This record gives sequence, structure tokens and C-alpha cells, in this order.
Amino acid sequence: MAFYITTPIYYANGEPHIGHAYTNTLADVSARYHRLYGEETFFLTGIDEHGQKVEQAAALRNITPLQHCDEMVEKFKNLWARLDIQPDDFLRTTEPRHQKVVQAVLQQLWDSGQIYSDTYSGWYELSEERFLTDKEMEEKGYTKDSPEVSQIEEKNYFFKMSAHQEWLLNHIEQHPEFIQPEGRRKEMLGFLKQPLGDLCISRPKSRLSWGIELPFDKAYVTYVWFDALLNYISAPLSHGGPEHLQTLWPQVTHLLGKDILMTHAIYWPTMLHAAGYAPPQKLIAHGWWMVDNAKMSKSKGNSIDPLDMIEKYGADAFRYVLMREMTLGLDSDFSEKAFVLRLNTDLANDFGNLLNRTLNLLNKYFEGVVPAPLVVGEAEQAIEALALKTLEDTEALVRAFKMNQALDTVLQLVRHANKYINDEAPWATAKTDLPRAGTVLYYVLEVFRLAATLLSPVIPGKMASLLSQLGLNAQDLKLAWGILVPGTQTQKPEVLFPRQEYIEKEENKMENPTGNPTEAAEKTVSTADKVSGAAESTAPEANQEAAQVVPEASFIGIEDFAKVELKVAEVVEAERVPKTDKLLRLVVKIGEEQRQIVAGIAAFYEPEALIGKQVVVVTNLKPVKLRGVESRGMILAAKSGELLSVLTPLNEVATGAQIS
Ligand code: ME8
Ligand code: MG
Repeated sequence: MAFYITTPIYYANGEPHIGHAYTNTLADVSARYHRLYGEETFFLTGIDEHGQKVEQAAALRNITPLQHCDEMVEKFKNLWARLDIQPDDFLRTTEPRHQKVVQAVLQQLWDSGQIYSDTYSGWYELSEERFLTDKEMEEKGYTKDSPEVSQIEEKNYFFKMSAHQEWLLNHIEQHPEFIQPEGRRKEMLGFLKQPLGDLCISRPKSRLSWGIELPFDKAYVTYVWFDALLNYISAPLSHGGPEHLQTLWPQVTHLLGKDILMTHAIYWPTMLHAAGYAPPQKLIAHGWWMVDNAKMSKSKGNSIDPLDMIEKYGADAFRYVLMREMTLGLDSDFSEKAFVLRLNTDLANDFGNLLNRTLNLLNKYFEGVVPAPLVVGEAEQAIEALALKTLEDTEALVRAFKMNQALDTVLQLVRHANKYINDEAPWATAKTDLPRAGTVLYYVLEVFRLAATLLSPVIPGKMASLLSQLGLNAQDLKLAWGILVPGTQTQKPEVLFPRQEYIEKEENKMENPTGNPTEAAEKTVSTADKVSGAAESTAPEANQEAAQVVPEASFIGIEDFAKVELKVAEVVEAERVPKTDKLLRLVVKIGEEQRQIVAGIAAFYEPEALIGKQVVVVTNLKPVKLRGVESRGMILAAKSGELLSVLTPLNEVATGAQIS
């Protein structure tokens, strides 16, 4: 089966924003999934260069429309490259291969009497580049004095759209999958209850010259929508001729925002029908990304630059959040804060922590070699069953373009694996029953291999690094269970998804009306039990100072906090420092490095009890000598009353892991 997916071709007048990034990411993700399903896939995007808006944008800049478009094309192409979006074709409507098809279709419809000329007068809306009906004028609240519209009378060419109304109505009624989601389909059916007019498909050159010339009247150019919609067939035609189009066309899905559903659901199928083509198989109309509940637009100046997001968080993170946060058909408010929260919850916590724990255990007990699943029981059968169900469910959701649910389904499998490893505690069983611990690790690792497969269309870069950490390559991205081969040597673990910090902009803080510290500021100050350096606890005065409540005025900025380098370390040696009952001499491993730290915790811990434990170390503290023993760093501990507790990460992480 073939899979042909298109995006709108964007107007060359505005800068690309996250709305465009969203549609193209959705198309790219779908294309990658369908390739995984083994389908012949063709993904088309491009630029809509003709028409009045582009002509005006160029005129404002004192350059030719083509010069303007050349620049815009680079901007869009650059964004797609930065976002790891890989279309099979990028069509420009100024290309001869496209113009040829537009003119051929026009000639065919002229020859067969589907196009006629007439004098028309009506209200023309510039921003929409089309004439409005009286009803639309009323609905939009325009009067004859509205600057958005002007009354125009001229001879033009018309496409007999009305002749196809009956056919279109039947088609929409009989093909529930044609327009999705269902609410949008109902809207179009409702629209078709009133008589459909004919479509003006020309503009006199005297008014607009930037367009494709009508083949049967050199004084006119083609209406921009009639030109643009035909990109969906001109691109495949130029690739592999009519045969190529024939394989792809029955499976075509047009992705679009709800703003342009009318042109795609009414104009386009009737144009195709008149020219002897089948209508597209599916129109998927998604909702809008909003900012503070308003639609992003050039005129409002509230757009979010996708390049900023990629710069800050990386392409994969941006792709993930776009797919995760939008429910197909609904609008979604874009907030950077929610963005960061989502990354931290799904990727850094649920996915990343489990991965680190698993690889650490694998290194500790199996020298990084994937063990064989030798002792399989009910818990393992349950994982396999859930994995197979995840495969099935995600495919159905992906085919319905419900990417947010597909991602959630994969994350549920990862969360299940998290619970499984906690229940089975391989770190404990490893000491008594190594084959059992190995089985558990195999199952978790296979969950990761499968998750890497299922997430690779959304976060291809990160999943490629995961694969290489697992000692695998692209061939192991298989939609099946039990692919991981025991004996595989995994690579050194690296943090795939560092926790992200959301820092509110200064101007937002100033506007904070309550005067309460913003979240970013709160994060840096803990009003709960004081955490202090255990080495310092030998010096009571230092401790006392630390215990004072921090007055509000002394909040520190995130840059102050960032000066303290905190890392996770593992205690490898511990002994009492002679002639004192307070100090322990520890040797800790921080990544590759080992160092000695003297800590004032001898009254609270037996040295042996600390060996093998993970602790938190301040690594950039100036070295000191305590009782003649050098201490390079400080171990964090919490003190409340007479009790002291050394801090340790909630989940086992790689030693040397940065704390932020
Ligand atoms: O309409 N949220 O081009 P266009 C989500 N050239 N998606 C958005 C969005 C938002 N806030 N803003 C834009 C045109 N989009 C024509 C199309 S096709 C033959 C010709 C996306 O530059 C969404 O896909 O105005 C929407 O339909 C499209 O950009 C409109 O792009
Ligand atoms: Mg638009």
C-alpha cells in the first residue's frame, strides 16, 4: 500500500511560525511511521508564491516578488532542516513543472466547457483573496465601508463549481472518513445545504500580474487558490508521471488547519471531479496553536519563532511537545512553561530515569552485556502482552493522526516497566539470583528497544542515540517483541534527556501583580528543612548560619545557584578518621574520577553502611584539610534536630550525573 501525505503550501508572505512547524511535523511524523509500516511513502510540502499578498509583501520591500519568494523559500527550507523534517519534495508554484500542470488543467476545463467568462461584480476580501457572498459579508460583519473589502466589477473566468454540488454532497455523505474530525465534516455538509456558486478563477493582469497566465487569455492570471491546490498533483506527476500519481492518489491525505478547510473540501474536490480525477481520500483539519487564547498571526505579532524553541530545547524536544500537546481538531494554547513541564515529566523523568537506572545496573552486574531472559514468569508475560498491545494501539492511533494518544500509549509501557523494575528489584536479586536479575533487565531493555522504535518517528535524533547506547542500529527498529539479542554489548550510558529549566522572562516577573516570587525564583530557595554540607557540620557556627530563614530580599538568581556544581557520586571506600568521633574519610567515584572527601557524619553512619551508596557531592568546593586529611568536596545531608540523613537520588542514576 502507498501513503501520500501533503501539507498546505504556505504563503510566501509571512515568516514561518509554530503553526507551520506543527503541520509539517505532523506530516513528517506520519510519513516516518508509515515507512516503518513498510509502505511506499511520499511526503510533499512547499510554498505558495503567487497572488496579491505576496506581490504586496515584495512591493513593500522594494524587491521583485520572485526575489522575495527566493528568500522565503530559504527560510522555510532552513526550518524544515533544523526540525529534522524530511519531505520527499518541496514544491514552489513558480516552478515550470507546476505551471505546466496548472495550464494543462485550465485548458482541459476550458475545452470541455467547465470554464466560462462573465462580468462579475462583488465584494472582494484581500486577506482571503476571494470574493465574498452577501451572506459572508454579513457573517463577517463587513459593510461597504470596511477597509477589509472592496467592491470590484470586472470580466473574469469562472469554473462551474455549482455543477458538482450534488456529486460533492453525496460523496461527503457516503465517505465519513473523507473529512476529519467529524465536526468539520458536519460543518461542510451544512455549508452545502445552500446553493453553491461558481468559482472565479482568474484575475485581470491590470490588477494583479503575479500569477500563472491563463492559457486561453493572456490578459489574465490564475486565481491563487486554483493554482495552489493543483500542487498536490503537479508534484507527483513531475516525479514519476501519471503512473506515479495513480499509485499515490487513491491514498492521499491532505493535512491542513481548519482555516483552509473550505477551499480543500469544496473547491478542490469539484476541480478534481471536473478534470476527471478522484477526490482526495482524506482531509485532516487540525486546530490552531494559540498564544494567550488568541490565534497566532503576523498582524497580532504574537507568533512564536520555532527556531528559538529549537535553539533552546533541541529539535526532538520541540517535535515531541508539538505532537504531545495538541489533540487533533482542537485548539491548543502554546506555553513554554507547559512545554518544559512536559519534557521533564515524560522524557527526563519517566523515560530518562528508568533508562539510566537500567543501564547502570547492567554495567554493575553484567558488564554492560545484555543478559538472556532465563527465568520468565507472569510479570514478564504481562510485559510482553502489554508491549504487543502497545504496538497495535499505537498503529491504530497513528493511522487516525492521534499522535498525542499514540505517545501516551508508548509512555504507559515505559511507566509499566518502571513499576516492574521496582517490584522485581534486580539490584537485590542480583546478589542471590543473577539469572533472575538478568531476566528483569532483559525485559526492561527490550521495552526500551521497542519504545525507541515507536518513538523514532517523533524524536529521531534522540532515539538514534538511544539505539547506539543499547549497542543496536537502525535495523533493530522493528515493530515486534523479542528482537534484542542476549550478548549484545551496550555502550557507555549518556543522559538523553537532561532536565530543562524554565526561566520566566524578566518583564513577566515585573508584571507579577502579587509580588510573590515567581516559580523560577521559588525553585532556587527551599523553605523546607535546610540542606547543608555535612563536612561543614564539623563547624557549628557555619551550620547555625545556614539554619537561618532566608529573608525574601536575599533571593538568589538561577545564575548564583548555577555556580555550585553538584554531582551524583558512589561511595567506594569509607573509614573513620583517627582521633575524632565526628569524621569519616570517604572515597567516592564521580563518573571516571575518584576523590577523597571528609564528612562529619561519623556519629550517624557506620562506614560499611555507606559503601555502594549514591550520594550528592558539591564538586567545585575549594579543597580543605580536616584533621590533616584532605577533603575535596562536600557530601550533602539533611539535618533535623538530632538526626542527620545523607541525601541520595530517589532513583539510581549514573555516577557523575549532574544535578540541576
Ligand atoms: O493558507 N496553528 O497558507 P498559510 C496551527 N497558501 N496551524 C497553523 C497556524 C496556527 N496558529 N497558523 C498557520 C495558506 N497554520 C495557503 C495554503 S494549500 C494548497 C494553500 C498552518 O501560510 C495550518 O496548516 O496561511 C494552516 O492551514 C496553514 O498553516 C496556513 O498557511
Ligand atoms: Mg493563512
